[in-house]
Amino acid sequence: MKKLIAWFDERIPMTKTWNIHLAQYPAPKNFNFWYLFGVLAMLVLVNQILTGIWLTMNYVPSAEGAFASVEYIMRDVDYGWLLRYMHSTGASAFFVVVYLHMLRGMMYGSYQKPRELLWVFGMLIFLVLMAEAFMGYLLPWGQMSYWGAQVIISLFGAIPIIGDDLTLWIRGDYVISGATLNRFFALHVIALPLVLVILVFLHIIALHEVGSNNPEGIAIKKPKGSVPDSEKPKFEFHERFTKKYDIVDAIPFFPYYVVKDLIGIGIFLFLFCYVIFFAPAMGGLFLEPPNFEPANPLKTPNHIAPVWYFTPFYAILRAVPDKLLGVILMFGSIAALFVLPWLDRGKVRSIRYRCGLHKLNLTVFCISFVALGYLGLKPATEVYTFFARVFTFLYFAFFILLFFYSKNENTKPVPERITK
Ligand code: HEM
Repeated sequence: MKKLIAWFDERIPMTKTWNIHLAQYPAPKNFNFWYLFGVLAMLVLVNQILTGIWLTMNYVPSAEGAFASVEYIMRDVDYGWLLRYMHSTGASAFFVVVYLHMLRGMMYGSYQKPRELLWVFGMLIFLVLMAEAFMGYLLPWGQMSYWGAQVIISLFGAIPIIGDDLTLWIRGDYVISGATLNRFFALHVIALPLVLVILVFLHIIALHEVGSNNPEGIAIKKPKGSVPDSEKPKFEFHERFTKKYDIVDAIPFFPYYVVKDLIGIGIFLFLFCYVIFFAPAMGGLFLEPPNFEPANPLKTPNHIAPVWYFTPFYAILRAVPDKLLGVILMFGSIAALFVLPWLDRGKVRSIRYRCGLHKLNLTVFCISFVALGYLGLKPATEVYTFFARVFTFLYFAFFILLFFYSKNENTKPVPERITK
């Protein structure tokens, strides 16, 4: 075995990679529940790719064949129903874990210096993930697939001058048609997953370059020579991490966090399987009822709503009477998250040591996001639109307020070392 490993090591940095990224990677010793969602996102990504490959084996990407091929997968293909439910539940699970993963970053200031680029890679992942889910949703060619895509693609028509040509170019036709389905299929099964995998790779490389943050928001890297040997952890970390810094309050990722993550993965799989076997449609949230009917360009459904993970942004779009302004605000709500590292001028990372206003601000932001998600599912009546406007205002207020109070914030004293 040793000889075999040596043979590989002479040709590819196998042991070195294992050590740098796992066995000798110093991870802060205080990771909590919130630090599970990165690994869960990776798990769901693998699930989506594998089940997607098998679904593709029987799916027919044409306007004539798509809906029937999905029914065929559900009824006739061996375990086809399981593959499809794993994939559709996986899509929603992806957004659940990614939203919680992002919230963790916001709570502990993981986007602040030196992790700005890591955050930007995360946001790019989020954008591509949304495009991936949107295109995947057209593929079953049900009523909601068709009309949902119709609504969203027509938004590009609001862009001045190039709007109409752009919509035509995206659709490849004057209406959503087989041509649109074909190109969405190509993008959904190969182009975007490839980009996603590359971005996740870069995300992890960037993370391991700067090191993980933690719930206390305190650096585990201290100036070289400032920590007495007696206070250094009794583990061997790779010289890449110890050459320039003294590392404190850290444990190696393997085996400690690998074992901890496995427990989290086990619990997640319990919940995931429960949904697959007992509530795959999740009361119409994960699979919407109109989508059990084939796409019909001559029959508009009474009420068109995107899948739940898009509804916060959809509610912002609908809250504005002017179409172009609505589109700008909707994209603005995502753009604001992109520039969060530069909007937050605070010196303290973790919410534990930040001012009361910040705690309140982030809480109101979370409530607004969930409320917008709920309102986006509802028809645009007067009352719902009023509330959508209030919560849209509060959503943006988070970023504006943060920019101002973070400069001279009244923070609590931050401890030197991780003690809890
Ligand atoms: C496919 C989607 C994603 C995958 C597979 C993924 C994976 C990971 C993993 C494995 C970690 C380290 C473990 C952890 O801290 O949980 C991590 C950390 C991080 N991710 Fe992601 N991520 C994804 C999306 C995102 C998004 C959308 C954002 C934010 C916009 C983001 C921001 C971060 C940040 C800031 C960290 C460092 C957290 C810290 O050290 O406190 N990630 N990610």
